[in-house]
Amino acid sequence: MNKVNKIAILTSGGDSPGMNAALRAVVRTGLYFGLEVYGIMRGYSGMMEDDIFQMDSRSVANIIQRGGTILKSARCKEFYTAEGRAKAYANLKKRDIDGLVVIGGDGSFTGAMKLQAEFGIPVIGLPGTIDKDLYGTDFTIGFDTAVNTAVEAIDKIRDTADAHDRLFIVEVMGRHAGYIALHSGIATGAETILIPEASTNMDDVIASLSEKEKRKKLVNIIVVAEGDAFGGANEVAKVIKERLPKFDTKVSILGHIQRGGSPTCSDRLIASRMGYHAIEALLAGKSNVMVGIINNEMSYTPLEIAIREKDIIDEDWLRIVKILAS
Ligand code: ADP
Ligand code: F6P
Repeated sequence: MNKVNKIAILTSGGDSPGMNAALRAVVRTGLYFGLEVYGIMRGYSGMMEDDIFQMDSRSVANIIQRGGTILKSARCKEFYTAEGRAKAYANLKKRDIDGLVVIGGDGSFTGAMKLQAEFGIPVIGLPGTIDKDLYGTDFTIGFDTAVNTAVEAIDKIRDTADAHDRLFIVEVMGRHAGYIALHSGIATGAETILIPEASTNMDDVIASLSEKEKRKKLVNIIVVAEGDAFGGANEVAKVIKERLPKFDTKVSILGHIQRGGSPTCSDRLIASRMGYHAIEALLAGKSNVMVGIINNEMSYTPLEIAIREKDIIDEDWLRIVKILAS
């Protein structure tokens, strides 16, 4: 068993609701097990700039319910270089920090893996991303909140779409993954959901809308993931406006509201559980793994696999969407 004495924690990349809850769990569990805990501001930027401070139990008071991250987040170009990482690591070394917890997405995990490979410091990743694009966990911290934000917004859009007999193309986030689109689209009764994991055929979309028009179904919501291969909502709307001018077509891009807000109960729970297990994992000598939850059991997936492997979207969902949208 590797003895870890001093750990540091950072939040990095796109923030996600629940990062604060995870931070709170890591800090308080670390203190419970007698560790010294340091917070690093602004992800790898703060590590580079030596913006590091010791945390106590009060440092994480009153944050479980808050969106964003009190440690702030950043994207740090210098960390892509070996020299940059050496400079950053020196600031951990001088404090004898011998364990690191990184809350972030695939980019942040790549940086963490490099730091581990170059300097041998044990690193544990916590999946903090609204995109749910990491392999080895059924949930990522922030996904549930983001999806619920999207659902609330699309429900509102449906009200006005219904009042005016309009077709709305709603674009949601997800980077290269379609989970936010799939989940929010199903939950709001979208007529069509366009995601990068399934091929988008605009002829099919047009045929389906034309058939609905014949049946006088003019209120339609199409949810499109920003990463869909065909393009975003504006590209989809352009084709529809050209080919089906009778439809009163509007575009709504939900954007960064999906990243903010108070985390849902579900996100607070998984963040707390994963945060606790990040410390247990470090104390058990684990390193270079992402803490996840699969079938309600804790799982520890090598960071390399968590980043590289892709979840396959169940065909069942896509079949259900088609049937329910009739
Ligand atoms: P996310 O973690 O949400 O995927 P990014 O992809 O923006 O976010 O990555 C966050 C930060 O992680 C980057 O700004 C950079 O500092 C670090 N990082 C990302 N990719 C690498 C890489 N290949 N090598 C070293 N550091 C990286
Ligand atoms: O990874 C989270 C995410 O919100 C993606 O869904 C989106 O593509 C990206 O970050 C947006 O990044 P930025 O905040 O830099 O615009």
